[in-house]
Amino acid sequence: MIFTVAIDGPAAAGKGTISRAVAARFGFAHLDTGLLYRAVGAMGGDPVDAARRLTAADLLRDDLRTLEAGAAASRVAVLPEVRAALVDFQRRFARRDGGAVLDGRDIGTVICPAAEAKLYVTASPEIRAHRRWLEVGGDAAEVLAQVRERDARDIGRADAPLRAAVDAVVIDTSAMEIVEAVKAACTVVVVALERQGLAPKPE
Ligand code: CDP
Repeated sequence: MIFTVAIDGPAAAGKGTISRAVAARFGFAHLDTGLLYRAVGAMGGDPVDAARRLTAADLLRDDLRTLEAGAAASRVAVLPEVRAALVDFQRRFARRDGGAVLDGRDIGTVICPAAEAKLYVTASPEIRAHRRWLEVGGDAAEVLAQVRERDARDIGRADAPLRAAVDAVVIDTSAMEIVEAVKAACTVVVVALERQGLAPKPE
């Protein structure tokens, strides 16, 4: 079965948690595409070269989750050649047999415009910064400034900017518990599966 769930949205909106939960619920594979850009940023040297040489093993580094790695990722992610070098890997993953969930910034708009289910997960910058601060600690004002800076870069870049696909279902998690957001996302996927004549795996 080929079935792609595209989940996009800004930093710390809850995409990662929702994506992992959706993948587990339906037995789909999951790719956090932010890790590709984080790995390219962390490899150093020429980012285009790094993107072309990237393998699945590079995604296993344990320093990819830091604020610095996120900032480096959003800097290399503005480069069209970097993005182009990562397209095939993501599309192959999306169309693997058994179903796939990909989360990122441009999955529903550029990587998989024909995805069977599309979600855009968002929340206010303040709430997202607070969530990120709970994960990474440090100075809360600094974390908010970084979230805003990264949003501006992701939304403002010319190539594959962050935005909701016109046919994406928007989930604003600002005032939602995570279980509620996961439930909303699973409902969207069930409807999309049924539209394809596919039966969801029993819970
Ligand atoms: O986890 P968080 O949302 O903070 O970040 P991430 O998803 O790991 O993405 C890090 C950075 O990579 C983002 O700020 C984007 O600039 C870039 N990115 C992208 O351009 N396209 C994607 N599909 C995924 C990430």
